[in-house]
Amino acid sequence: MKSFLNDASNGKKMIDKVFKAAVAAKEDELLFKGQVVNATLGTLYDENGTFVAFEHVWNAYDEIDKIQKAKYASGIDGNPDFKQSVKNWLKVSNLDCDVIATPGGAGAVSATLKNVLNVGEIVLKPSLGWGPYKTMAEEFGIIHQDYELFNHDQFNVDGLLEKTKEMIELQGKAVIIINDPCHNPSGYTMTKTEWNQILNGFNELSSEGKIILLHDVAYIDFNHQLDDWKEHFGQYQNLNENIMVVVAFSTSKTLTAYGARVGAAVVFAKNAIERQKYVDAMIYSARSIWSTVNNSAMKLFSKIESTPTLKKDYLKEKQYYIDLLKERADIFLREAHEVALPIYPYKEGFFITIKVDDDKIDEYNKKLQENHIFTVSVAHGLRVAICSISKNQTKGLAKKIHTTLFE
Ligand SMILES: Cc1ncc(COP(=O)(O)O)c(C=O)c1O
Repeated sequence: MKSFLNDASNGKKMIDKVFKAAVAAKEDELLFKGQVVNATLGTLYDENGTFVAFEHVWNAYDEIDKIQKAKYASGIDGNPDFKQSVKNWLKVSNLDCDVIATPGGAGAVSATLKNVLNVGEIVLKPSLGWGPYKTMAEEFGIIHQDYELFNHDQFNVDGLLEKTKEMIELQGKAVIIINDPCHNPSGYTMTKTEWNQILNGFNELSSEGKIILLHDVAYIDFNHQLDDWKEHFGQYQNLNENIMVVVAFSTSKTLTAYGARVGAAVVFAKNAIERQKYVDAMIYSARSIWSTVNNSAMKLFSKIESTPTLKKDYLKEKQYYIDLLKERADIFLREAHEVALPIYPYKEGFFITIKVDDDKIDEYNKKLQENHIFTVSVAHGLRVAICSISKNQTKGLAKKIHTTLFE
């Protein structure tokens, strides 16, 4: 018998591993108060276990007029001042690019996938990466394939370029997702050399077909080089005609504004006609899926970006948490090294991931939970969200994990 749902949606069911692990941690906390380490949540918590909502962001929000909070955005592609603020923020205002406001970075990634690939075509995603890339591809009938993210402890440049070549030969087009800096879930950040090799490789390969780089920068404002890192975008100006880059920006982590759902797709392409076609298609998707983006959160972002004193205070506040993340990471990494707990190469950001063979992930996760340690199982590992545990909770954690799993 026919289902009420169409064939594509019949049987679709979202199992959110982060949410599931977080619920299990909460239940355990009710029984074992004070003994539980809940390293599941991908949002910032302070040293007292309180959710961080930046003072200088949310106090500024309270000053926004209620009419602005109530209003629709002034354009489907976002407010003009917001779009300019995104360019200024990313240090790309002197470069040829267009901005479309999206509901978070997720909106930018998902709508781009929808518009650049046909049903049945393939997107390349990192073997160790953000889970929803898979969900988003599947939502549009797009097939996902992994490129091996690491070669030992370095970005696997050759592997990625080989896969890119394969895709061009197969479908005349390669679509590649890279999440850098501060990769989720490894905390890796690519070197300048690795990026140069990739972009040079793309330039060469693009003589044979189209390349779309979907560059997810969700954690950009937590990298240790801060705004200097953003010079990277200048290279997108020099890519060949057959290459388009979409930078998926998000205010979720940048402003601790996860629930406000504001981000942007920033598109670079020498081919102005193709670039305009992408913008037009994204605006069409916006109108047909989410309509417009949250007006007050766009206003908030523009206000912080364009008010020097406010921006200075915000940056100082954010820096405290960048330093705190580093302190937590240093504790975990030092102890992990001491006990030889295998982890993926971490440099900065919200997460550290323990290397685990795929057939052991569920068993290890269960063992940890029985010992009141809650992590998130990801492909090829267990993710420890150092963003959500205090230094006190971090102390001894790597050792305890090692003892639980290996001794
Ligand atoms: C790697 C990565 N990309 C993108 C996002 C998008 O977040 P949002 O849609 O809240 O902007 C996240 C959020 O967790 C993420 O971890």
